Formats: sequence, C-alpha cells, structure tokens
Amino acid sequence: MFIIKFFTFIVLLFPVQVWCNEFANTVPDKAYAASTSRLMKLLEVEDELAENLSGYVEKLKRKLSIVEKSLCNLKAKHIQMKMDYETYFGNPLNSFSLIYRLSSSWKMWLKYTSESQKEELEHIDEAHRMRTQLPTSSDLQMASRGIDELMAYYKLTPEELGVGNLSGYTRPETALSSLDCYALGEFCIQIRKDALAEAWFNASLRLFKENNSVYNVYDFSRTTIDTSWGALLIKNNQYDAAFNHFGQSSLSNISREVQNQFEEDLGAKRNCSAKFRLPNHLHCRYNSSTSPFLHIAPLKMEEISTDPYMVVYHDVIYENEINWLLDNSDFRTSLVGESQISTLRTSQDMPFGANSGEVMRNIEKRIKDMTGLSMDLSEDFMLINYGIGGTYKMHYDFYVYSEPLRFLRGERIVTVLFYLGDVELSGSTVFPFLNISITPKKGSAVMWYNLHNSGDVHQKTQHCACPVVVGSKYVLTKWINELHQTFITPCMKDSNIHS
Ligand SMILES: *[C@@H]1O[C@H](CO)[C@@H](O)[C@H](O)[C@H]1NC(C)=O
Ligand SMILES: *[C@@H]1O[C@H](CO)[C@@H](O)[C@H](O)[C@H]1NC(C)=O
Ligand SMILES: *[C@@H]1O[C@H](CO)[C@@H](O)[C@H](O)[C@H]1NC(C)=O
Ligand SMILES: *[C@@H]1O[C@H](CO)[C@@H](O)[C@H](O)[C@H]1NC(C)=O
Ligand SMILES: *[C@@H]1O[C@H](CO)[C@@H](O)[C@H](O)[C@H]1NC(C)=O
Ligand SMILES: *[C@@H]1O[C@H](CO)[C@@H](O)[C@H](O)[C@H]1NC(C)=O
Ligand SMILES: *[C@@H]1O[C@H](CO)[C@@H](O)[C@H](O)[C@H]1NC(C)=O
Ligand SMILES: *[C@@H]1O[C@H](CO)[C@@H](O)[C@H](O)[C@H]1NC(C)=O
Repeated sequence: MFIIKFFTFIVLLFPVQVWCNEFANTVPDKAYAASTSRLMKLLEVEDELAENLSGYVEKLKRKLSIVEKSLCNLKAKHIQMKMDYETYFGNPLNSFSLIYRLSSSWKMWLKYTSESQKEELEHIDEAHRMRTQLPTSSDLQMASRGIDELMAYYKLTPEELGVGNLSGYTRPETALSSLDCYALGEFCIQIRKDALAEAWFNASLRLFKENNSVYNVYDFSRTTIDTSWGALLIKNNQYDAAFNHFGQSSLSNISREVQNQFEEDLGAKRNCSAKFRLPNHLHCRYNSSTSPFLHIAPLKMEEISTDPYMVVYHDVIYENEINWLLDNSDFRTSLVGESQISTLRTSQDMPFGANSGEVMRNIEKRIKDMTGLSMDLSEDFMLINYGIGGTYKMHYDFYVYSEPLRFLRGERIVTVLFYLGDVELSGSTVFPFLNISITPKKGSAVMWYNLHNSGDVHQKTQHCACPVVVGSKYVLTKWINELHQTFITPCMKDSNIHS
C-alpha cells in the first residue's frame, strides 16, 4: 500500500508544475516531495488554482455568449439585406444603421473583445500570485528522483508505470500521461541514465494522444518527444536510430545542427577542464578615478587583461543587495514556455530593470563608477541561475550582425558580470583565447570590453560558462551599449585606449 500512496502523491505533483529543463533551483525552501503534509497543502493550492481558473472561464463564457448573440443578429440582418438590398437600403433607417455599425459600433466591439479582458484577468492574477506556493524545480527533481528510486527498488519499467501497473497491481487512475513520461525522460538525461530516458520517451510516444488540445497549453507535440529522443541518440553516436526521430524532410539539416551542437559541447568541455593559468595579476589597485564618488569610496580593482581590457572588481556588490535580488527573483515562472532543447544555455534567467527598486538603481550607479560609461541605452540587468550541470556554451556577447537592436542601441561595448555567490566546484567563466579562467567569488564582478577601440568586435572575447558541478551559481549581468558613449570615450583611435 505504501508505494501506491507515495506514488499517487507524486503523480499529483505533475499537473501543477510545468516540467522544466533545468532542475536546478537551489534556494531550498519547502521541499514538497519530502513530506506528505506539504503535499496535502499542494492539493489545496491546486483547488484554489482550479477555482480561479473556473472563475475566468465563466466570465469569458458570458462575454462569448454576448458576442455570439450579436453575431447572430448581425448575420440575420446581413441575409435580409442581401436578399433585396434595394428595398433594404430604401429604408433610411437601415442605411443609417449599417453606417453606424461600421463607423462606431465596430470599434466598440473591438474594444469590448480585446481590451476589456481586465475583469477576467483578475482571476488569472490571483493564480499568478499563487506561484510562490508552487513546487520549485528542486521539488520536481526530488519527485523525479523518487520515481527513479521506486523503479529501481521494485524493478518497475516505464511501460508499466505509464499505464499505472505497479508490480502487477494495475490502477489506471494513477497512469502517467505522455507529458509526465516525457518529463521523466528529460530527468533521466540529467542523471545520465540514457537507456532509461529512451524507455520513458518510448512510453511518452505510446501514450501521446493525437489532437489532445491540452498539449497546446504546454507547447507539447510528438515532435517535442522525437527531438529529445533523437538528440539523445545522436549524442550517443547512434545516427541511424536518430534519423527515425527526425522528420524525413529536414533530416539532414536537423542532424547537422544537433551534431554541431555536440561538437561545440565537446570544445567547451575541453576548455573547461583545461588548466588555465590564473589571471596574472597585472595590477591590483584601488580605482578612484572614474567618478568623484570614488575618491571617497574607491573600488578594489584587479587588472586581468589589457587587450581586451578586462578587470575584476572585488566586494562590489553587497550582501543585502544579493539577498534582495534572490528574494525578488522568481525562476518558477521561467519554467513556462521555454523551449525544451535549449541549445546554448542551460540556466534560468530573469530581467531586472534599473527602475525595479532602489537596489537596482544603486547597482547601476556603481556600474557607472566602475566603467565610467553612460548607462543610457544599457540593457536591463539579467539575473541568471545555473544549477547543477548548468552551462552557457562558447559565445560572444556582441550582437550578430543582423540583430535589430544593434542599430537601435549600438553594439554591446562592455559586459559587466557580478558573481552573487561562491560556487563549490567549477562554474568558472573561461576565455579560451585569452587563457583566462575566472572563478565565481561572491561579491566580485568582472568587466570587459567586447569591442576594439575602433568599434570592431573583439574576437578574443569569446567565452563560456563551465558546468556547475556542485552548488548553484547566480550571476547578474549588465550589457552596456555603445551609442551614447561617444562623448565619454572620446579618443576612439585604432589603438587600444587602455593599453
Ligand atoms: C481565487 O480563489 C480563492 C480561493 O479559492 C478565492 O478566495 C478568491 O476569491 C478567488 N479569486 C478570484 C478573483 O476568483
Ligand atoms: C502488469 O505488470 C506485470 C508484471 O510486472 C504483468 O505480469 C501484467 O501482465 C501487467 N498487467 C497489465 C495490465 O499490463
Ligand atoms: C518501444 O516500446 C515498444 C513496446 O513496448 C517496444 O516494442 C519497442 O521495442 C520500444 N522501442 C524502443 C526503441 O525501445
Ligand atoms: C486529428 O485532427 C485532424 C484534423 O483536425 C484529423 O484529420 C485527424 O484524423 C485527427 N486524428 C485523430 C487521431 O483523431
Ligand atoms: C537545409 O538547409 C539548407 C541551407 O541551410 C536549405 O537550403 C534547405 O532548404 C534545408 N532543407 C530542408 C529540408 O529544410
Ligand atoms: C576552446 O575553445 C576554442 C574556441 O571555441 C577552441 O578553438 C579551442 O580549441 C578550445 N580549447 C580546447 C583546449 O579545447
Ligand atoms: C595558457 O596557459 C597554459 C598554462 O600556463 C600554457 O601552457 C599555455 O601555453 C597558455 N596558452 C596560451 C595560448 O597562452
Ligand atoms: C578606473 O576604471 C576605469 C574604468 O574601468 C578605467 O578607465 C580607469 O583607467 C581606471 N583607473 C585607474 C587608475 O586604474
């Protein structure tokens, strides 16, 4: 009985969460999967959510029926009109009515149908507020692990679990859905049980119901499963098997894309395990020159490279600021609608505008002091959380040439990256062409120029975030754009300003 009870509760977890790619949120708070009383609480949360959603549905239905009724009237009038339009428009009231309808009523209808959804959305707002009570990705990770242990212990297979067959005792009401199986498959990839992941994907495909409209909500389709499965097979060099999972038409393109991805992966792997020299402390000093404020409170600065100019600032973001950021981050929401195969980065991020509070304003002011640059047209801060295994592959920070923002703001001249915590193992930022590896240290920030002084992009700024092995890594980034810096960095000659 115990396993069934345990299992039922775990199954109940799934409708509430939307599965995620990165099982990584670490600030441990509630640990739903660990206790049944917490799970009971979760049931209440789900009740509430359902109630609010049904309120939303009711209101929308009422509105729809009003729209539907008037549509009926409109159609009736239309038919009447078309049957004998001369007589119809012979009546001046009818012509007035048509003109009125199309001149002003139409706008009102548009407004009614689109704009006035506020009332309905109130219900959704309520649901949105409830998100703090939802399980986190670490809850999901624990729940998935629970299933995994259950399977190992009782020698269960995904096929059996998929139909709710627990050691011969079949309970269809505990059967897993195609989505559940898919999520478990993704989890197994995380814990490197590739064969088991395949079995889950297989079960997921078997349980997949064509034309199930609910899948639209989750942006889930047969292709989602096939792509994950295919990518897994390619990773394991099983190209022939993988091809079965990709649509015939785009077969070669997809496989090439996935292949490139894994080659890049490998490159990054080698870079991350390579022994780079520690930054050869070019200079360590206090910087008090960029702004009058720094005369009073100079920043501790360590110069790491001159070409491109790169410095590390120490103790430049404070404990209370870090706490504020983490308290105000909500990575749960970013689990929704993310593409399932994140090709470049496995992490979660969340934007913070400089206007989202005093803390952000202060940090922005400090960046101004650190860089001596104007914050006009700089981008929103981005808080990024890398969980275990979280990486960001080799990339540049400057835009690809065709990116529209490039023309609006100018190129990303400087990147500032704050480390909001120590990471127990690895997770460093590596610049292979500079032979530099920067280890996350709480409170420090690295700043570098992405451009030559001529404005050309600096190819040596290619970098990656190495996978986190133990712990969780939080960084805050700020990209500063070039367009409003003209008068601040006046000596833009070909030579490097700083060297
Ligand atoms: C949402 O649900 C809660 C709990 O069931 C209820 O108290 C609240 O009135 C609902 N709010 C809306 C806007 O439907
Ligand atoms: C359930 O699994 C057992 C083996 O564990 C098997 O003998 C039985 O036929 C299965 N029942 C169903 C309905 O699939
Ligand atoms: C998928 O499951 C079916 C039915 O259990 C099985 O016959 C088939 O061999 C499985 N395919 C793979 C590739 O594992
Ligand atoms: C799914 O819908 C499409 C078009 O609406 C239809 O042609 C197809 O037969 C449906 N498939 C199933 C399995 O119901
Ligand atoms: C594959 O990519 C090439 C160029 O990248 C493109 O011309 C071709 O149409 C693509 N093929 C398919 C089937 O998408
Ligand atoms: C590191 O990455 C760079 C650029 O992606 C690559 O050229 C280089 O070979 C890699 N280094 C190692 C040690 O693999
Ligand atoms: C990077 O540093 C390592 C270790 O000090 C050294 O062996 C290697 O030659 C350096 N590579 C470059 C490109 O400077
Ligand atoms: C202080 O930092 C700014 C911006 O990084 C730099 O331009 C300036 O040269 C630094 N001053 C000193 C004395 O290092």
